Amino acid sequence: MPSEKKLSAEELARRAEAPPGDTGEMPDPEKILFDSKPPPPFSEDNIFPIEWHTETPKLLDLYEAARDPGWAPNTLPWETLKPENFTLDQRYAISYWFSLLSVFDSSGPAVFARAMIRTYETHQEDPIRRCFFSITRDEVNHEEVCKRAIQALTPDGPLGYEPETPLGRLAQHNIRWYFHNGARYWDGFKKGIHKYELPILFTSFLMGEVASSSLFHSMYQRTTIPVFKEAFRHVGQDEARHMGICLTMFKGVLPKLSDEDKEIITKQLRAGYVFLSGILYEPPDQFWELPDEFGPAHRMLEDVAREGGLGVLRRDERRENWRTAILKMKGLVERYGVEFPEIPEIDIDGKTITFDLDDIVPVF
Ligand SMILES: [Fe+2]
Ligand SMILES: [Fe+2]
Repeated sequence: MPSEKKLSAEELARRAEAPPGDTGEMPDPEKILFDSKPPPPFSEDNIFPIEWHTETPKLLDLYEAARDPGWAPNTLPWETLKPENFTLDQRYAISYWFSLLSVFDSSGPAVFARAMIRTYETHQEDPIRRCFFSITRDEVNHEEVCKRAIQALTPDGPLGYEPETPLGRLAQHNIRWYFHNGARYWDGFKKGIHKYELPILFTSFLMGEVASSSLFHSMYQRTTIPVFKEAFRHVGQDEARHMGICLTMFKGVLPKLSDEDKEIITKQLRAGYVFLSGILYEPPDQFWELPDEFGPAHRMLEDVAREGGLGVLRRDERRENWRTAILKMKGLVERYGVEFPEIPEIDIDGKTITFDLDDIVPVF
């Protein structure tokens, strides 16, 4: 088209046609809105629409205070933890204790990450979502402490090394059984997380925070191993923060509870005792599937870990620690008309609960 080539830009512009519908007038927003239609509704349990509302300013303050945990596992003095300072059995036993702890503290990141997603799906207020994030991060740090302790004392541990003593073999045997129960717990948690409202689910978790913050504090005071002293101090402070978060969340829902919610909480509290006793006291028969030799081996390993300087509390001291935490919880929930479950193992009376794994959501 040779003639077209000669057209000037001016000529082209003159010939250009406006697209259809463009009248050259300013669009009228009212008119546009009149013809518009909203998008289809959001599906249930969708994280959208995103909003940032705050109903509990206290939770926002707690999140602000949690932004910087004030420590990191990689900066603890790990170089002072020398395997040659321990007997072989002490190494196995201390590593064993951290492996049991890891059933709780290593499921923590996965449990809270999933719960955090749930806070988005159920459109919880913004500070609750953030607080769950900060707990997830803390649990990642606690998991790292377990990992570092285990790998320093039993490289490739907890299961990947060949123990050279009978006590070492017993340690691995018990750990395998604990992991078996951890796996059952995870299955239950995954299935249950959609069942009830999050603040209700996490009532049992609050009990764990109350007990673990004081447990780690006592271990901090007792251990003679410098790196663990530091670790327990920081972990204890983190747990105390988690306790504050859970308590604030819980106090927010307590006045709004229906009778049905209250019944769920009573069951969750009993479940909390059952699960958390696995580290805070001694695993009860309910839920925990353990062979007969587990108990005696466990006590032997704890004694050796204590001799090695770990600072493990004695059975009666742990019982007292647990009992105090549970009585605190009892006082709190009863004030709001929630019945407390009977915990005969540590002489606490209350409502008798039949333990049914299909009925409760396990939360460590
Ligand atoms: Fe933790
Ligand atoms: Fe925690």
